[in-house]
Amino acid sequence: MASHPPLPGSGSWNRRHVIDSASLTYEEVEEVLRAAKSFSHILSRPVKKIPTLRGKVVVNMFYENSTRTRTSFELAAQYLSADAINFSVSTSSVKKGESLIDTAETLAAMGTDAVVIRHASSGVCQQLVNYFGDRICVLNAGDGYHDHPTQGLLDLFSLTERLSDIKGKKITIVGDILHSRVARSNIHLLKLFGADVHLAAPSTLLPMHIESLGCTAHTNIEDALDGADVVMCLRMQMERQRAGLIPALREYIRFYSITQERLEKFCKPDVLVMHPGPMNRGVEIASDVADNREISLITNQVTSGVAIRMALLYLCLSTPAERSGLERFQANLNERMLAV
Ligand code: CP
Repeated sequence: MASHPPLPGSGSWNRRHVIDSASLTYEEVEEVLRAAKSFSHILSRPVKKIPTLRGKVVVNMFYENSTRTRTSFELAAQYLSADAINFSVSTSSVKKGESLIDTAETLAAMGTDAVVIRHASSGVCQQLVNYFGDRICVLNAGDGYHDHPTQGLLDLFSLTERLSDIKGKKITIVGDILHSRVARSNIHLLKLFGADVHLAAPSTLLPMHIESLGCTAHTNIEDALDGADVVMCLRMQMERQRAGLIPALREYIRFYSITQERLEKFCKPDVLVMHPGPMNRGVEIASDVADNREISLITNQVTSGVAIRMALLYLCLSTPAERSGLERFQANLNERMLAV
């Protein structure tokens, strides 16, 4: 049996919470990626469960819909042997008017160690951290238009698995940047790793002053895609069409949809395509592009999501001393495996 890279031990990680991307340091992100690499090896084994977080309780509080984030956090907790609870907002006392803090306090009183929260309001994760301090871990699963740090980290991890270096790569994010927490997370993390980040959208879907984050904004898709190494498509948020931010969906498709023809005409020949999901096939991305395993990292992104969320739960719910112990235990196990 092959050994796998050791789980990171006494690195720089000293956080109980992950509530945004912008405050993560290069060293911290590297530590998350190292842990995710190790967990991705474990995930490729027939038996995926390890006892690392036995006895810990993780509660998913999703006030907005989710498939990928909620399921992968639940699986990540279970693979680490933590107890994972999906708190159902629609059948909870939230419907009777219970506040977010009272709900979280109730869960904390039952022995919860971590809450994973998705909410329509930007800033709710900070609100929970202000209230609870280090009593409970808070992990942001997407808050309003603000941030979706675990998505940004899993996108970065998927890219580092495929490219030898992110530094200097032209990465173009296309779509509804204005309403996208995924775009904000990716801009921060890709810039941290030295990428040349470009954005493409109609002017009504580009936030004012977005270039202050160190990226280049285009309304012309051809300029944005010219020589791109990676194209990251964003979901066209249909629910916002009523606001009249684009004149017609048909026009958006005509000028911004990522098609095979556009990729071949403007991007590097070995371009990679990403999408955080859920996708609107035939709108922001053509179906044949999404399904082309040669260039599409979409399935890899989903798989990376479990490894990244295992890494974050592991790092936030264990102490450096506990991690050092695990590292020694695993190094010993690997030595014994190699000796057989
Ligand atoms: N990418 C993403 O956050 O997907 P879900 O909404 O399905 O969690």
